[in-house]
Amino acid sequence: MSLRTLDDLLAEGVSGRRVLVRADLNVPLDKQTGAITDDGRIRAVLPTLGALVEAGAKVVVCSHLGRPKGAPDPQFSLGPVAGRLGELLGAPVHFATDTVGDSARSTVAGLADGQVALLENLRFNAGETSKDEAERGAFADQLAAFGDAYVDDAFGAVHRKHASVFDVPARLPHVAGRLVLREVEVLSKLTGEPERPYVVVLGGSKVSDKLAVIEALLPTVDRLLIGGGMCFTFLKAQGLEVGTSLLEKDMVETCRNLLERSGGKIMLPVDVVVADAFAPDAAHDTVRVDGIPSHRLGLDVGPETVAGFSAALSQAKTIFWNGPMGVFEMPAFAAGTRGVAEAITKADAFSVVGGGDSAAAVRALGLDESSFGHISTGGGASLEYLEGKTLPGIAALEN
Ligand code: 3PG
Ligand code: MG
Repeated sequence: MSLRTLDDLLAEGVSGRRVLVRADLNVPLDKQTGAITDDGRIRAVLPTLGALVEAGAKVVVCSHLGRPKGAPDPQFSLGPVAGRLGELLGAPVHFATDTVGDSARSTVAGLADGQVALLENLRFNAGETSKDEAERGAFADQLAAFGDAYVDDAFGAVHRKHASVFDVPARLPHVAGRLVLREVEVLSKLTGEPERPYVVVLGGSKVSDKLAVIEALLPTVDRLLIGGGMCFTFLKAQGLEVGTSLLEKDMVETCRNLLERSGGKIMLPVDVVVADAFAPDAAHDTVRVDGIPSHRLGLDVGPETVAGFSAALSQAKTIFWNGPMGVFEMPAFAAGTRGVAEAITKADAFSVVGGGDSAAAVRALGLDESSFGHISTGGGASLEYLEGKTLPGIAALEN
């Protein structure tokens, strides 16, 4: 694969040139206060932005946040992100209160060399996510007018065929930013010839979200450890009763089939923490998976499961982890995720944490980020990469 990179662009010289950077600044916000609860994605784009600032570019950053419906919606404003980005860069970020309107035009026009602007949420415009090529293209034309060159550093969004990801690079000289390059380098190790044993841990709530990646990984991995809400559909497929736990009834047959074809590679929990309700203070106990009471729901994997998973992980040379083992946001149900994460950090292996919730879990649980080989900023994107799918954002950079 041949991607032109930020270094190629810097070598051409960017001083005084306007460089449009697509970042993924889609950070989690506190539902009550709107405060940024995890700024990992903002930090991840600093190497690219810092290099452009240093080189004297006029840096125009754009991103989506959340899923607004193609029109302005204050709860999804990137305003707070502009503030945080400015703190981290150590220089003010000029925030445009629209994406391609008057505010954006004057903000971009007013940038001095080495200054940074952030445009308002791309998804306030229907053209960004439109399935209609012409509608997307018209929006991409407006965005592309803000740059003399385009840098994609939004790894978390490369799996989206959106205007800023797919159509803008067709209109401007384009390169991969530092983050996109690093993510692709790391993930390509996993799809290439990973050092063995290669152990994958999957969690999260839905089997249906992970089905494609399970199918793609089964032939490649040595062990596949499954926890989180999705494990109950697998347990059901083994003929066990799961009480009121999360269950995707229409996936039971699929899970049974996967288990049959897995050649014993799939490892499921042997014990789980069951509670009376989905609540932080719910009464709870640890039970064996064949003893889940009919009125209770599983909210975490149990200690014996953690021990078993940890033993498998301690043998591994390559590890990929996506998805929490339980409701780690509630302390009573965080031990499974913490235990598995700690086992990953202790293993003498190259470990990759796949995006979204698992990356947030690493930081929320106060684990040392540097003890993982790589923490991806892309949840969906890293999974689709491992599935072997063509990612529109990467394909656009290759052209
Ligand atoms: C993510 O959080 O997974 C990325 O920012 C992509 O967001 P999306 O799933 O809303 O497209
Ligand atoms: Mg997503």
